[in-house]
Amino acid sequence: MTYVGIIGGGNISVTHARAALEIPGVELAAWYGHNQDRTRRLSELYGGTLHETFQSFLAHRPMDLVLIGSPSGMHAEQGVLAARQGLHLLVEKPLDITTERIDLLINECHQAGVKLGVFFQDRVAPDIRKLKEILDAGQAGKPILVSGSVKWYRPPEYYGDSRWRGTWALDGGGALMNQGVHTVDLLLWLMGDVTRVSAKATTAFHDIEVEDTVVATLEFASGAVGVLQVATSVYPGYQRRVEVTGSEGTIILEHDRIVATDLRDGLGGPTNPSESNQNPSATSAQVSDVSGHRRILEDFLRAIETNGTPVCDGREGRRSVELVQAIYESSSTGQSVKLHPPNI
Ligand SMILES: NC(=O)c1ccc[n+]([C@@H]2O[C@H](COP(=O)([O-])OP(=O)(O)OC[C@H]3O[C@@H](n4cnc5c(N)ncnc54)[C@H](O)[C@@H]3O)[C@@H](O)[C@H]2O)c1
Repeated sequence: MTYVGIIGGGNISVTHARAALEIPGVELAAWYGHNQDRTRRLSELYGGTLHETFQSFLAHRPMDLVLIGSPSGMHAEQGVLAARQGLHLLVEKPLDITTERIDLLINECHQAGVKLGVFFQDRVAPDIRKLKEILDAGQAGKPILVSGSVKWYRPPEYYGDSRWRGTWALDGGGALMNQGVHTVDLLLWLMGDVTRVSAKATTAFHDIEVEDTVVATLEFASGAVGVLQVATSVYPGYQRRVEVTGSEGTIILEHDRIVATDLRDGLGGPTNPSESNQNPSATSAQVSDVSGHRRILEDFLRAIETNGTPVCDGREGRRSVELVQAIYESSSTGQSVKLHPPNI
């Protein structure tokens, strides 16, 4: 049996609990959240002991790993304390809101000998894995151009009713750090490192201190170039769209599904629409289809069991936050920003 602890108690912690309970041999051990009433209700519904303090939660045994679904700016601080107790960590995106804190967390996990993983569920979506295989096999040829369009909508209450969303301190940014980070991770995973970025972020629609609309141009180490648009200001909200062009053709992704494989030699094959997840991400933060989270957790359990590497480990989870920070820096300075990938 594997015993899981849940840190959070909001929207995504429900997803975590449901995903965990879909996996045979997994049991919920303990809960900790700021909103005691809500967390109590969740612990009664899904199982696991409710703890009133973080210290007693961390001391709960048996407990093998924790799923962190607290506000983004709490992830590293809570993760460091959990790692010191020998607990493996599977953390919501973004891993945290600065690379400095993420480095601290990666280091602590290394010292403690525990696994660190990030919930970037795109990486386990069947069509997206297929797209990655096509690109890695060179079937699309030399990378030329990529575009990521995340024209989503969140109503004003999404920010207004929350103490942490849309704040620099706990969300670490707006549409890009919260919603867009999935697609930032995806572009980096598919296309490799970005070496230079130029961007403009605005707060166009919402009454928040962070951006709700951003555009960026990206230069990849491969020589490819890219454009990224991310918003929570685009009513009524459209499916995320990613278009990848290489010298052998173009592949188009809508949401998490390949909708076109236009390669010169016709490689790629048909896709299965039923494998797309049903989450209405373009208009809502709710993750009611938990299959992506379940696959990430299954992958993480395998990594623990085999002493392997999760599909998105700490080092991988750091990359998107580094690029998001560079986009913010470029927007605020009006200059392009050069990135220094660790492997160059
Ligand atoms: N992977 C995805 O698709 C996805 C989707 C939504 C949210 N998320 C991520 O999940 C995290 C939480 O988002 P959400 O939508 O569940 O937010 P939410 O506001 O619904 O829930 C956050 C919960 O954390 C609790 N909380 C606040 N401070 C805390 C603390 N110090 N310790 C423990 N709990 C605390 C709050 O009481 C609240 O219940 C964010 O990092 C977000 O980016 C990921």
